[in-house]
Amino acid sequence: MLYILKIGGSVCTEKDENNLQAKEETIQRIAREIKQAMENKRFQLILVHGAGPFGHKLVTDFEIDNGLKNEEDFAKFKKVQESMKQLNGIVLKEFEKEGVELHPLVPHEVIRQENKKITSFDTQILGQFLSNGKIPTLYGDMVPDSKLKGSVVSGDSIIAWLSRELKADTVFLGTDVDGIYSADPKKDSNAKRFDRINESNWLAVEKALDEASTVDVTGGMKGKIEKMREKFKGGKVIVFDANKEESVFKALTGQKIGTLIEF
Ligand code: ADP
Ligand code: IPE
Repeated sequence: MLYILKIGGSVCTEKDENNLQAKEETIQRIAREIKQAMENKRFQLILVHGAGPFGHKLVTDFEIDNGLKNEEDFAKFKKVQESMKQLNGIVLKEFEKEGVELHPLVPHEVIRQENKKITSFDTQILGQFLSNGKIPTLYGDMVPDSKLKGSVVSGDSIIAWLSRELKADTVFLGTDVDGIYSADPKKDSNAKRFDRINESNWLAVEKALDEASTVDVTGGMKGKIEKMREKFKGGKVIVFDANKEESVFKALTGQKIGTLIEF
């Protein structure tokens, strides 16, 4: 059984405040919950984390979201990659403290894009990690792009690609809201949660999906769900609030949580 878990930038960093600061305690708690879940249930796991300000703030300030135009832009592109490696280093370290070993793959070494869309993804090493019982880890990054020279790949695009290629059983999207609502719950306090989403209510859901209100160049909830729908038809996706204690444990062990999407 293959699970893919995303820890959004809104969970692992201070994305709301747009601070280049990782939430170490939250990352540690998530590591503990993953460990507990793996002691309770057998599954393979790929962990993907988002960027928060470590990616979105830099890309926005540097103005390199629509292509690299000169040498200076290439230097900025490299800075974003370094910043994401730094955040990934923090995640690896916090997991290690809890006795969970992660095996990182550097997205800009294995992914190529054209016009912000993945065109190739070398998943060979990832497959090897999985079959050896290891937890491979990737993250949102900036990667070479055949049209734009360099572009952002979100953790969500990485997950959408992998879920299809590796035929994942379930994708868990851990974010800072406890599911998908009839409107962005951060802007509309009357928004109602969809407990389940499938073809019968998809039209209403599609209208409700919006971008994030934080600094985000990859499309917030709208980008997340549209990418999954494009690549993972027939698959199961759970959107839940990973900032809540026990949420990751509950999600991975099959307890009812968040919004369940069956495209
Ligand atoms: P992450 O950083 O966890 O990957 P994003 O910030 O990209 O997540 O997207 C999550 C955000 O999407 C939420 O914080 C919420 O404000 C926004 N959002 C927009 N529309 C909706 C909706 N219909 N239901 C839930 N959240 C929504
Ligand atoms: C974005 O990754 C990567 C960069 C901006 C370099 P994500 O789109 O997965 O990040 P979050 O989860 O929304 O913060």
